[in-house]
Amino acid sequence: MKILIIGSGGREHTIAWKLAQSDRVEKIYIAPGNGGTAAEKKCENVPIGENLLIQFARRAGIDLTVVGPEDPLAAGIVDRFRKAGLAIIGPDQRAARLEASKVYSKAFMKKYGVRAAESRDFSDPAGALAYAKKHFQGGKKPAKAVSRAAKSAASASSGQNAAVAPIPPLVIKADGLAAGKGVVIAENFDEANRALSSFMKEQSLGSAGASVVLEDFLVGKEVSVLAAVSVSPGRKGSIRPFVPARDHKRRFDGGEGPNTGGMGAIAPVPDFTPEAQRDFIKSILEPTLRGLEAEKMDYRGFIFFGLMVHQNRCSLLEYNVRLGDPETQAALPLLDSDLSGLCLSILDGSLGAFPLKWKGGAVCAPVAVAEGYPGAYRKNDPIAVNEGNLAKTGAQLFIAGAQRGSGGAAGSGLRTSGGRVFAVSAWGSDAEEARTRAYLAMEFVSFEGMDYRKDIGREVSAERENND
Ligand code: AMP
Ligand code: GLY
Repeated sequence: MKILIIGSGGREHTIAWKLAQSDRVEKIYIAPGNGGTAAEKKCENVPIGENLLIQFARRAGIDLTVVGPEDPLAAGIVDRFRKAGLAIIGPDQRAARLEASKVYSKAFMKKYGVRAAESRDFSDPAGALAYAKKHFQGGKKPAKAVSRAAKSAASASSGQNAAVAPIPPLVIKADGLAAGKGVVIAENFDEANRALSSFMKEQSLGSAGASVVLEDFLVGKEVSVLAAVSVSPGRKGSIRPFVPARDHKRRFDGGEGPNTGGMGAIAPVPDFTPEAQRDFIKSILEPTLRGLEAEKMDYRGFIFFGLMVHQNRCSLLEYNVRLGDPETQAALPLLDSDLSGLCLSILDGSLGAFPLKWKGGAVCAPVAVAEGYPGAYRKNDPIAVNEGNLAKTGAQLFIAGAQRGSGGAAGSGLRTSGGRVFAVSAWGSDAEEARTRAYLAMEFVSFEGMDYRKDIGREVSAERENND
């Protein structure tokens, strides 16, 4: 079987690595891929633009295409491949709106009773501003539980003493895809005003910010559940969740600093209890499946549930219509089934009966980033890899932002090209052992200006729990 993977990050390297383990997979092309996929067994990078992918897939006799990132999905790549008679994993363009439009996805959640924060959407700036004003004047009943951080911020900004119920922040979400820049947690009216002006008037995100969702602030710990989904009109669908994962999004230890694309992940999540998992199935997964079926979606791909979990009760923050990055680097190494078989079952509708097995233990995957990230960062630094010692840790190196050229230090040939450069994914019999091995592995890969968080997989603290 010949496979084409679309994308160039750590997630795509992990998918390629996992697919390459399958006996039935003969060759994997990655468009455009990165320095990691270039050297993976059975793999070859193909630097071709999106408009030529169908032509390439036909010429190369591709049996199956897997799409990594959201942009091509939102642009309808699945519809185009299927129209050309090519097998592809992902939602069609209509289903991709679950990620591409927050207004649409919130309406879907409401319609099908998927538990989520209360929200309103606006396409007129004046209406959004009036709603925010009312919120911060206390015109809306504050949420029952507010984190300590939010409480102190609210009482400091309003001069209230701690005994008075504080006004919780307001969550402002741009409707469209914004590469992680579309959500602002406004602590007061000024912040809300600034965010709304930037999105809706100055169009800082282009058309993505023309409409917004204003949403209640939820307290809790975030969990990412990736899942395989197979829904197509006229038959019973299925969603099969993976082991739960957690991404640590803030740049610095303890959940401090700016948001990033993800500084590392762990799977499974020790604090996602069986009770919370049952609640997730009942309150989020099942209504989502009913909704996809009722809307007669053609969604044969992967789905990502971004959850906020508080006292074992799950609320859905967002759907992504793809696998998460870097959650995939932690979850896929735990998959004890053939990924190509899973993909085929998604396509032919037999997902419900697929023998989806998971290894015991845990995987911790911290991410190494370039100096300056998430702002402007250093590039083109050679990466030294001590292959022998790295192999002894059992950790896997998943490249995200590095290319393979000539003359890298220690013969790796890799040079940094992105802000998030690589992850090391290490298995352990429990989270603590996985963490120890991952951080040992980090010692054997280096480049000028490299940095990484030292607390990936540690319990998220109560103070910062929302924002880690
Ligand atoms: P989203 O793109 O909707 O997942 O939002 C990005 C991040 O903003 C999430 O990972 C959360 O950390 C935070 N967030 C989003 N919605 C809420 C909410 N209703 N309450 C608290 N935090 C939120
Ligand atoms: N880790 C979050 C994402 O993939 O969007």
